[in-house]
Amino acid sequence: MPWVIKYRPKKVDDVVNQEEAKSTVLTWIHSWLEGKRPTKKALLLYGPPGVGKTSLVESIASEYDLELLELNASDYRRTQDIRKTVAVASQKKPLFKKMIIILMDEVDGLSPRSDAGGIEELMKIIPNSINPIILTANDPWKDSLRPLREYVTMVQFKQLTTNQIIAVLQNICNKEKIQCDREALKFIAEKSLGDVRGAINDLEAVAEGYGRVTFNIVSLVVKPREKNIDLWRTLNSVFYAREFWQARKAVNTSEEDYETLMAWINDNIPAKYEDPEDVFRAWDSLARASIFLKRAKSGNWFLLPYIFDLIGPGVSFARKNGQVLRNRFSYPAKIKEMAQLKSVRENREGVARTIAKRIHASKRIVKSEVLPYLFLMMKYGDINRVSKLSSYYSFTEDQLRYLAGSRVKEIISSINREASNVKETKSAESSKHAAKKKRRSRSK
Ligand SMILES: Nc1ncnc2c1ncn2[C@@H]1O[C@H](COP(=O)(O)OP(=O)(O)O)[C@@H](O)[C@H]1O
Ligand SMILES: [Mg+2]
Repeated sequence: MPWVIKYRPKKVDDVVNQEEAKSTVLTWIHSWLEGKRPTKKALLLYGPPGVGKTSLVESIASEYDLELLELNASDYRRTQDIRKTVAVASQKKPLFKKMIIILMDEVDGLSPRSDAGGIEELMKIIPNSINPIILTANDPWKDSLRPLREYVTMVQFKQLTTNQIIAVLQNICNKEKIQCDREALKFIAEKSLGDVRGAINDLEAVAEGYGRVTFNIVSLVVKPREKNIDLWRTLNSVFYAREFWQARKAVNTSEEDYETLMAWINDNIPAKYEDPEDVFRAWDSLARASIFLKRAKSGNWFLLPYIFDLIGPGVSFARKNGQVLRNRFSYPAKIKEMAQLKSVRENREGVARTIAKRIHASKRIVKSEVLPYLFLMMKYGDINRVSKLSSYYSFTEDQLRYLAGSRVKEIISSINREASNVKETKSAESSKHAAKKKRRSRSK
């Protein structure tokens, strides 16, 4: 079990150095428990990542024996989802426990761009909730959250200092019975920029890779926390990893979403591994990751660290017999196909829209009754007519390629020829006209 999960605070006291936040939240929870519903039915816990926001809520639930209904970003991406999950949860009565706490983690994701109704929906739900609702966010000052701020009590979480983080790490070292130098812990804590989660992950990576945590190792291995945006670097680290933690970190810090990353790794396994048994083990690991990911997406996000391990180290250490082949990484077929499908769909829609507008018919009719003939015309029809038709509808080059296939070049050059003819005749006409005018004015 990853240490960030294993050493998650289980009691309120385990959450260190958020005393102010703790007392606000506890007072609020107590008044719920005493049956005096506070005027604000929701709290918004905010602060940088990895400072204990989620941990505090979880530890309160476990210490007070309350039911915790954890909702995740995927539960409230759209207004409909909010109605389905949050609204229902807000009216739910506890079955076995005294009370339900609703936790909406990381509401920063509530995006007004993709869905303006979401926030409004929440503003309707919160005042009427019969259960305490706790929201968390990294940045509560975002414009999208502004209207919400009146409906919640804001609770700030502070970034932990280096010394506080060292204390958390030291505690873990003691429990794991590993030798940890203070200088090393200090290095990790400083590099974590206040993110306890990140610091614990780094500590675990080093401890696991080297069995001890010394300044020499740590200063070589632990880099400032940054996202790895380079896909090739991620792939290299997975396929060429020598240590478990290298492969895990590669996946952990990748900017790509898990599905894309899995598609890349999936397609490159047979190109990189020569031994069939290695290939089998690697694919087996990815298959498990994909099953776990489905579960994670249905709300069990605590599975994510395991998924990372299956995608990264699971694939790296599947290789037991052969070596890594020096082939270049290839673009995954699945992503290529999807991109092509998408462009076909877009072109089809675009062409249908243009024609529908001109002939006053619906897009559906155009697709079923016009497009089949248009394809034939564009492919086999007389080139002059085809080019006239194309310029009449101003099809784009992509649309022409979609309609006429390999004939697209011929059509485009015909359109260009036509256009320059028109220009020439026009300019010829206008110069004739000018000459006439001149003559006329001279005769006057
Ligand atoms: N104040 C804290 N006290 C003790 N451990 C903490 C604290 N903040 C974070 N952690 C550790 O970091 C991990 C992530 O914390 P979490 O509560 O999920 O952070 P947040 O929700 O603020 O991003 C926890 O599992 C815990 O081990
Ligand atoms: Mg959190």
